[in-house]
Amino acid sequence: MSDSVTVDPKEIRAQDRAHIWHPMVQHESIGPEDLMVITEGSGAMLKDADGKEYLDAYAGIWNVNVGYGRQEIVDAVTEQMQRLASYPQTQIVAPAAQLAARLAELLPGDLNRFFFVNSGSEANETALKAARQCGRQRHPGENRHKIIARYQGYHGFTMGAASATGQVGRKRMFEPLVPGFIHVEPPPTHGPDDIARVIERESPDTVAAVIAEPIIGGGGVLVPPDDYFPRVREICDHYGVLLILDEVITGFGRTGKLFACEHWGVVPDMMTIAKGLSSGYLPIGACAVSDDVFEAFKGEVEDEVEFSQVSTYGGHPACCAAALAAVDILVREKLWENSEQVGAYLLDRLQSIETQYIKEVRGKGLMMAIELQDEYGAMLDAKRSGAFGKAVREAGVIFGKMSHAMAGPESVYHLAPPLILTEEQADTIGNAVVTGLRAIG
Ligand SMILES: Cc1ncc(COP(=O)(O)O)c(C=O)c1O
Repeated sequence: MSDSVTVDPKEIRAQDRAHIWHPMVQHESIGPEDLMVITEGSGAMLKDADGKEYLDAYAGIWNVNVGYGRQEIVDAVTEQMQRLASYPQTQIVAPAAQLAARLAELLPGDLNRFFFVNSGSEANETALKAARQCGRQRHPGENRHKIIARYQGYHGFTMGAASATGQVGRKRMFEPLVPGFIHVEPPPTHGPDDIARVIERESPDTVAAVIAEPIIGGGGVLVPPDDYFPRVREICDHYGVLLILDEVITGFGRTGKLFACEHWGVVPDMMTIAKGLSSGYLPIGACAVSDDVFEAFKGEVEDEVEFSQVSTYGGHPACCAAALAAVDILVREKLWENSEQVGAYLLDRLQSIETQYIKEVRGKGLMMAIELQDEYGAMLDAKRSGAFGKAVREAGVIFGKMSHAMAGPESVYHLAPPLILTEEQADTIGNAVVTGLRAIG
């Protein structure tokens, strides 16, 4: 990273304070120096406008899987922008076709068809709409529209994706949401047979799909037992219900496999992807569907069974070029292998810290959560939990934190570093946690 400071932090802070509406934070409580002015990134490291360096153990927001500063992505985007800066999916654009073909090779099973959008929320919005349309067209005369999702799950901020979301704090202010969404308790405390029971009680001919994150992310990194998703697959097959796996966080190596569903040999009918698809270099998401699902959208023109959705920027050539380059890096460097190895090393390092303040460290690959507790085993209160986070940051490491996912205190920190993380950097994270714990006591 360069030594020069390119922006005046004071001026930027003043502009930000006057005009930016930040997500998930009470503006009245933001101190003048609370938010960093991030100016540069290289590998797993970030630099702020004051010249301080940080290890980004959250990879932006679970998304910069290949790390910052990859020149070949910049070059691919520059070249594409010079050739053709923008054109929609109403005609054929080379980078979109190439990316779809590449993804068809990489995604499991026959997930061969891609609807490109701009974010994870839109990918899920697309999947939910496609599932309802598919239900109607595959089962004429039935009323298949209901979507079963899980509490603690997160699927995005748009109305459909928010309706599938099972986190109280991200929903209650916007209710009533979209009708027809039913939630069940998530693993590991609850098993998949809750889903079967709900399908029975609602009547299978009213249910279109089950949507689930393979590992719940923002809801606290909840890793299911190994038999959970194989059983969910069986249940969906039994009732003719589509399985939508939201791999927005877990996809592209995050959990130690290219896609998390590979841990259990499960192939969904639809998969939603975003974040790691372009490693965050440009916004892009996609809803992938199986050949079988795509069949339901084929017919005569007068049947009007085509998918009735268009996006101005979905499949944007520059975003597809960025994703192609990011996926190339990820595959060439087999970054899911490093995710598995360094993830296991970091998990072990964190689990071996002796302290009364950690209730649990859990995760898979480089997707982890540290749940903090007080002396009595209860969630740590916001003040002490905040002191931990502040001390970790002062030690030069950035974590994510659970927010608006549960009622009451949410003392769960999230780790999702770039998949290029080294063991030495994992040690830096471990040391920062030890420093943070001292600030609690
Ligand atoms: C599992 C999951 N799905 C969907 C989304 C929504 O993605 P986006 O923020 O790109 O709309 C997120 C975002 O964090 C996510 O974690």
